[in-house]
Amino acid sequence: MKKLLILFFVIVAFVTIHAQSSNPEMDSFITDLMNKMTIDEKLGQLNLPVAGDIVTGQAQSSNIAERIKNGEVGGLFNVKGVEKIKEIQRVAVEESRLGIPLLFAMDVIHGYETAFPIPLGMAATWNMEAIEKSARIAAIEASADGIAWTFSPMVDISRDPRWGRFSEGSGEDPFLGGKIAKAMVYGYQGRPGIDLYSTNSHIMACVKHYALYGAGEGGRDYNTVDMSRIRMFNEYMYPYQAAIDAGVGSVMASFNEVDGIPATANKWLMTDVLRTQWGFNGFVVTDYTGITEMIDHGIGDLQTVSARALKAGIDMDMVSEGFKTLKQSLAEGKVTQEEIDTACRRILEAKYILGLFDDPYKFINPERAKNEIYTPEHRAIARQIATESFVLLKNENETLPLKKQGTIAVIGPLANTRSNMPGTWSVAVNLDVPATLIEGIQRVGGDNVNVLYAKGSHLVSDAAYEERATMFGRTLHRDQETRTDEEMLREALEIAKKSDVIVAALGESSEMSGESSSRTDLDIPDVQKTLLKELVKTGKPVVLVLFTGRPKTLVWEHQNVPSILNVWFGGTEAAYAIGDVLFGDVNPSGKMPATFPQNVGQIPLFYNHKNTGRPLAEGAWFEKFRSNYLDVTNDPLYPFGYGLSYTTFDYSDVRLSATEIDMNEYVTASVTVTNSGKRDGAEVVQLYIRDRVASVTRPVSELKGFEKVFLKAGESRTIDFKITPELLKFYNYDLEFVVEPGDFDVMVGGNSQEVKRARFTLK
Ligand code: BGC
Repeated sequence: MKKLLILFFVIVAFVTIHAQSSNPEMDSFITDLMNKMTIDEKLGQLNLPVAGDIVTGQAQSSNIAERIKNGEVGGLFNVKGVEKIKEIQRVAVEESRLGIPLLFAMDVIHGYETAFPIPLGMAATWNMEAIEKSARIAAIEASADGIAWTFSPMVDISRDPRWGRFSEGSGEDPFLGGKIAKAMVYGYQGRPGIDLYSTNSHIMACVKHYALYGAGEGGRDYNTVDMSRIRMFNEYMYPYQAAIDAGVGSVMASFNEVDGIPATANKWLMTDVLRTQWGFNGFVVTDYTGITEMIDHGIGDLQTVSARALKAGIDMDMVSEGFKTLKQSLAEGKVTQEEIDTACRRILEAKYILGLFDDPYKFINPERAKNEIYTPEHRAIARQIATESFVLLKNENETLPLKKQGTIAVIGPLANTRSNMPGTWSVAVNLDVPATLIEGIQRVGGDNVNVLYAKGSHLVSDAAYEERATMFGRTLHRDQETRTDEEMLREALEIAKKSDVIVAALGESSEMSGESSSRTDLDIPDVQKTLLKELVKTGKPVVLVLFTGRPKTLVWEHQNVPSILNVWFGGTEAAYAIGDVLFGDVNPSGKMPATFPQNVGQIPLFYNHKNTGRPLAEGAWFEKFRSNYLDVTNDPLYPFGYGLSYTTFDYSDVRLSATEIDMNEYVTASVTVTNSGKRDGAEVVQLYIRDRVASVTRPVSELKGFEKVFLKAGESRTIDFKITPELLKFYNYDLEFVVEPGDFDVMVGGNSQEVKRARFTLK
């Protein structure tokens, strides 16, 4: 009976997810509409030009209003302001021949005006409820301002922190990434079968960048990707598929090539995998100028690449204006009417399921805009979530938490900036509103704390580099700075001398990560490091508050600085949240969603690697003719899953419900976790599996479960993980998703390295 019920719900969910293709009312509405459309109007629906005052790329489109009246535009993106959007929608609905409403999109990546931590920071919370909530709030605020479609979630797995867009994803792990993808999609759109697109605050998500964008060679943005299909499916594809399974309405093609063909023209990717294998029924949009870029990729002129994109399965052209050429391609027999109609239908279906044909102004309500954006309630949630994203990397001598008394010297180029607090891709944020770190510390510390400030150094010694790293209104005011680095350092040391404790606010500016912000050196930049060394030399306790959009190389810091709190970029409420954690009002609980290497030469370094035929013995360093380096161990500085707390957690041994099961059974792995310290706190209990023997090589460890538990000081809790044969599946050489019998290691712990082990056999 129970099984039947489950089957029933699975069928209901499947039908709801695939409602776009099985809704007779919608089908006949769209068929009637399309019967009235000219070929130009159909192609118009496939066109997504950029408009408004927020321009995120290089290309510009003009005469937008005229073109909307002519039916040449399907949607617009990055227009901010509900009144503006209302006016544009009015032109579309009242002044174009068929009155088809426009789809308004924006890069709402980690919040709208209320910004949450950058996605990498959100991943560090390991809190799916919080992540879903953040997307929900983002959807409420964006939709209150006229936005119906967001270009999020970005779920690209990356193992190369040189890549600036590491900040925008969930790190290196497909399992964690898949869970996050799902939570984000639910937050934006609602849940299939429950509340999917059920209100005017449920907007359409767009999973991106399909596919493999995070695997560019050398970590250089937009660079070539080349990998085996078995690696793709076992290590990179899962988060995209998880978003599809969660019912995501749209997919964005990536800039890179896959198997020698740009994703934007890759039929295998866009049709065979996405639609045939995964059952996706929404629409696919290119990335910004993705079509014209294929001319530079070297696969043809604009007409050729546009036709190739359509034939591959692309429905909407972002910014390239390449789909205009499809009319000529149709006349020349290079594309078919059916291919154009299919794409047009998919765009109209998206507008239909969003409810825009019922009410083109569904998401356009100036009253909502006044009341639902950047509210005290949203800000309070953002602050709380930000505290969960911070990762305590080191805490010697209980330097943290700080006391709410005495003199604190807050020093560093990131101590006194508002615009750098929210982090990259916060396009809707008003950059003047976030508190500075100085303000956050003063506010949370209260009147008995005397806060002193000195900038201490520039961001980097090279002024031109600093300019490149502080674009889009995120200046650190170097231009107004007339002092030399030496003078700034001297002032900082004077201030440091007067203090009881030093908080060093160092690392990256917000635009040092994000799009087109790849780096080859992942140390804290030159002058900042000099400053940090001098601060440590004073002998005062130093807390490094590290701002970063990616894993960094911190060996010197780890060896010499008493306390390190990694705060990523924590959103609009970051400064207060940092105060909350520094003073111990909140106990840090973030865990690394990616490996921190010792140096750049180790990259790519990730926990779920293969064993090789010449593995290094555990704990060993160099052994001749083993897979290792002469100059550095194979170990990371901080492993995946790592993060400290102001309390400590003890793990019992792993208990298995059985040591032998067959394909119809499952094993329960249990551990008892005890808060063995003096403070209440949260711990992320992590389950890893190793498939000891298989028909293809398998990783030494794979995350397969996690649970975040809050434990009072002294409290214990038993956590159970259910390990089913389904959980042990992988793609074999023939790309079949299979489970093979054999031995499996079960590893449970507070990070990927410190684990308790057990083993069972699957027969
Ligand atoms: C980025 C996308 C983004 C788009 C629209 C592109 O440059 O790669 O992630 O959604 O611009 O702003």
